[in-house]
Amino acid sequence: MTALPRDEPVLRVLPLPKDLNAAGDVFGGWILSHIDLAGVVPAVRRARGRVVTLAVNGCTFRAPIFKSDLVSFYARLVREGTTSMTVEVEVYCERDPQSPFIVKVADASLTYVAIDDSGRKRPLPPQ
Ligand SMILES: CC(C)(COP(=O)(O)OP(=O)(O)OC[C@H]1O[C@@H](n2cnc3c(N)ncnc32)[C@H](O)[C@@H]1OP(=O)(O)O)[C@@H](O)C(=O)NCCC(=O)NCCS
Repeated sequence: MTALPRDEPVLRVLPLPKDLNAAGDVFGGWILSHIDLAGVVPAVRRARGRVVTLAVNGCTFRAPIFKSDLVSFYARLVREGTTSMTVEVEVYCERDPQSPFIVKVADASLTYVAIDDSGRKRPLPPQ
């Protein structure tokens, strides 16, 4: 039986009908954009300011998200360089409110870069 991670999610959302694809599942682009929104949270906290998404290093959709699934995004910083940070994001669904169970639906790795007001990269501040 899959359980939710112990950490707090950085994002929790119920997809709308407009987020469904022709088959009635949640559109992959919606999932990916929310993964990016979730991943930016630990990056902005660490950078203490603006960041941009430099790369989606990888993303695996492990199971479909159905309408009525409550979707939770967990994000944590796993590497920091001079200006860049790697964040891992995991996505889980709470399915079937009558008899709830958890499904892990996706995981991803993204790289963010800290930028200044002019949009140029800047070193991460000391911890
Ligand atoms: C992000 C940006 C400011 C980087 O500027 P840059 O001068 O080209 O930066 P660099 O090539 O020197 O790389 C900066 C850091 O990213 C790392 N990096 C570069 N390419 C990478 C890649 N493909 N994957 C992972 N890390 C990468 C570098 O190693 C460096 O890390 P470090 O400083 O921690 O050692 C610039 O590329 C940019 O503005 N990109 C557009 C971002 C964007 O519009 N995103 C979408 C909307 S948020």
